[in-house]
Amino acid sequence: MRLHFKISQRRLFFHNSPQHYSIDAFLLNNSGPYSVKHSTPQPAHLQKVYEKTIKEYPEARMMVSQSQGSLLTILCRLMNANKVLELGSFTGYSTLCLAEGIKERGSSAKVVCCEKNEEYAKVALQNVKDAGMGEIVEIRIGNALDMLVLFIYSGNVFDFFG
Ligand SMILES: C[S@@+](CC[C@H](N)C(=O)[O-])C[C@H]1O[C@@H](n2cnc3c(N)ncnc32)[C@H](O)[C@@H]1O
Repeated sequence: MRLHFKISQRRLFFHNSPQHYSIDAFLLNNSGPYSVKHSTPQPAHLQKVYEKTIKEYPEARMMVSQSQGSLLTILCRLMNANKVLELGSFTGYSTLCLAEGIKERGSSAKVVCCEKNEEYAKVALQNVKDAGMGEIVEIRIGNALDMLVLFIYSGNVFDFFG
């Protein structure tokens, strides 16, 4: 009964606060909205994809949270990463967070993302293009496991894995 009440409260919270509907709001006892509110805002193109995903996809909880997205950006910057491999793009929000962290690296900057779901891959690609990151991001449709084997045998090296 108590558990049910807690779950209902959470549903209500998520329903009323779409911008805070995220995995860390759920996992970290709703500290997600607090950390977002008190952190540097993300660039508008990231905010747009994040909000659009929440609005249009019931499975939006698959997406990383905004604070997790910012962490991906910061980690790529701190590591001076050039080449990043991501396994699973969903709508491309985390992909764009990774791209944000390497975009200053110039022509060597590349995020390669493997996505097995064709529909998600198409949406991610469109979001990447709309964000002006088409030069940096490559979305490959297919099973990441197969692609990993190809990357290993072709000697592809990545600096960061998302
Ligand atoms: C949890 S979601 C990733 C969310 C995304 N990183 C984000 O934050 O928005 C997992 C994604 O990986 C994809 N996926 C799952 N297994 C895969 C595989 N074997 N190869 C490629 N993509 C896969 C799913 O289709 C889904 O889009």
